[in-house]
Amino acid sequence: MKPRTLVTRLLPPPVMDRLRRETELVLEPEDRVLAPAEIIAAAAACDALLPSVTETIDAAVIAAAPRLRVIANFGVGFNHIDVAAATARRIPVTNTPGVLTEATADIAFGLLLAAARRFGEGERLVRSRAWTGWGPLQLLGQDVAGATLGLVGCGRIAQAMARRAHGFGMRVLYCSRVRRSAADEEKLGAAYRDRDALLAESDFVSLHVAYTPETHHLIDAAALARMKPTAVLVNTSRGPVVDERALVQALRRGTIAGAGLDVFEREPSLEPALYDLPNCVLLPHLGSATAGTRTRMGMMAADNLLAACRGERPPNCVNPAVLA
Ligand code: DGY
Repeated sequence: MKPRTLVTRLLPPPVMDRLRRETELVLEPEDRVLAPAEIIAAAAACDALLPSVTETIDAAVIAAAPRLRVIANFGVGFNHIDVAAATARRIPVTNTPGVLTEATADIAFGLLLAAARRFGEGERLVRSRAWTGWGPLQLLGQDVAGATLGLVGCGRIAQAMARRAHGFGMRVLYCSRVRRSAADEEKLGAAYRDRDALLAESDFVSLHVAYTPETHHLIDAAALARMKPTAVLVNTSRGPVVDERALVQALRRGTIAGAGLDVFEREPSLEPALYDLPNCVLLPHLGSATAGTRTRMGMMAADNLLAACRGERPPNCVNPAVLA
């Protein structure tokens, strides 16, 4: 029996081909976000859910799916899934770690460069047809080589960011809940600081933490006030790690110099002032958006889903207590 599966979004063709072959899709996915009522209605018949970051899989969805055997997320972050409610039903929740590390670090480093060197303002100037030619004082940005990058979090994507920073001649600091061993720090080429010291010392601060109740508004007005007035904040983790209103104030008042954001507190809405702030580079949650990465994410989600439905241990379970 093929597992009856709700795939909430249309995924890359090789992934859809496989899911059509190896599961029974309860809905033909479209390239749109399903309404909560549509998810609840479809979940009733499902053995498996394969959601993306755009769907909230809360206790109501889980309760509406009496046959549910796995929630196989398409993505590494799973804050949109009520893992406690799934665990209470002994349903494994899985994610897709590793396969999107390099693509996401590329976007984080791209945002760092774009904010430092004012790509957005330069591009808008050229496209406005108002550019009058090269100028010695035009759109002066910040040096990246020799600057200090502070990584908040020290997981896979932070480490990939550190590798990129070394290639650009940067000094790297990190803070995390657990300090790494001296050998790991040496391998990583990053020195540990507590969070406040890291914020105060860094020219660029890049966020690489999961979104949890503990990291909600980790970067608030007080944290921003600790940063240098010349500093740039980069966020490719989750929007609510940053207090977006406080960030707008900080960018307006010159508390910090700039920001590069790929994620927002209430996607796809932004704090309205952000749209008009010139010192802020904005991307539409593109971290893992390469064809290869999204295909690998889909294949990994399918591996997890099919393993759980066969009664095997899914390779990337985030609530392994349910497998004991
Ligand atoms: C992730 O994998 O967490 C990306 O942000 C998309 O969900």
